[in-house]
Amino acid sequence: VEIVSYDGPRALRLRETELPQGVPAEIAAFGEPVRIAVRAAGVSFPELLQSRGQYQMKPELPFVPGAEVAGTVEQAPCGSSFAPGDRVFAFCLLGGFADTALAPEQLVFRLPESLDFAEGASLFSNYHTAYFSLVTRGRAERGETVLVHGAAGGVGTASLQVARALGLKTIAAAAGAMLVLRSDGPWKDEALAAGGADMVLDPVGDRTLDSLRALREGGRLVIVGFTSGEIPEIAVHRPLHRNVDVIGAGYGAYVFSRPELGAAISSELGAMIDQGLVRPIVGARYSLSEAGAALAHLDSRRALGKVVLEVDG
Ligand SMILES: NC(=O)c1ccc[n+]([C@@H]2O[C@H](COP(=O)([O-])OP(=O)(O)OC[C@H]3O[C@@H](n4cnc5c(N)ncnc54)[C@H](OP(=O)(O)O)[C@@H]3O)[C@@H](O)[C@H]2O)c1
Repeated sequence: VEIVSYDGPRALRLRETELPQGVPAEIAAFGEPVRIAVRAAGVSFPELLQSRGQYQMKPELPFVPGAEVAGTVEQAPCGSSFAPGDRVFAFCLLGGFADTALAPEQLVFRLPESLDFAEGASLFSNYHTAYFSLVTRGRAERGETVLVHGAAGGVGTASLQVARALGLKTIAAAAGAMLVLRSDGPWKDEALAAGGADMVLDPVGDRTLDSLRALREGGRLVIVGFTSGEIPEIAVHRPLHRNVDVIGAGYGAYVFSRPELGAAISSELGAMIDQGLVRPIVGARYSLSEAGAALAHLDSRRALGKVVLEVDG
């Protein structure tokens, strides 16, 4: 499936083509890739932005989008720990909305037995980001309280599950949390009435000041994304007066250059999956030919959990 123009979800076209020769520069930069027979591809906010030419990674048109997949290994580099037939999930950056994708070996992980391919295609960006934001950057401690914004979305649902697996108390602006607040209601006062939060995890971006106000002394606001389309500004006296931290959590910029950290996060999440504490929520399944409708679904804010394209095996 290619993005052929910048007309949003209508800009996607299905096309039969030979397997391209060579490895795209973005992937070659990581070394020899793993070739994967795709069974499911995750659909995320960046693909929606790409269909409008609004994402930082802007390849020449037409191009195949799709940053994460699950499937089976077709071909692995010499000396690799993967072999043809292995069930895996992977972050391929681009090219995932296809039968075959190439992914850097350090971003390929074994798919836990208990998960199907659609669930596997929902793991990497949401769950790795959730763990990274809560633990690596957010310094979460068992027993603390975290307020999760955008809690019905991909990163939000993942963060709620991982937070509970870590022994945190959760407050959310959507279903699935111990305390549920409406993001369009007086959530900040309600959160304070419930004792405030030690951490606020924000993938939405339009409520920064109230997020700081909802923190307890010593609390951390972890900035994860901007689905609202706004990049807010706050005066720096705010964190000073309240003795709170504002922390950026950018997964790729931090973890891609530390493959051992990516592997450690994957193993922590694997243990949570094995214990039944974490299970990706697949909110909608589409076929590859319906990729445009899948993006429109995300665009309409109807998406719950992860939107996935399924590819026939
Ligand atoms: N920092 C990192 O390393 C990293 C990694 C992965 C993703 N991200 C970013 O994290 C963000 C969330 O990704 P996601 O996959 O969770 O997205 P998502 O599932 O599409 O959306 C998350 C939530 O954002 C809210 N939202 C969506 N559109 C909005 C709008 N126009 N105005 C206000 N709220 C809106 C919705 O919550 P309500 O309608 O319930 O309020 C939605 O449930 C994205 O910006 C993504 O790029 C960052």
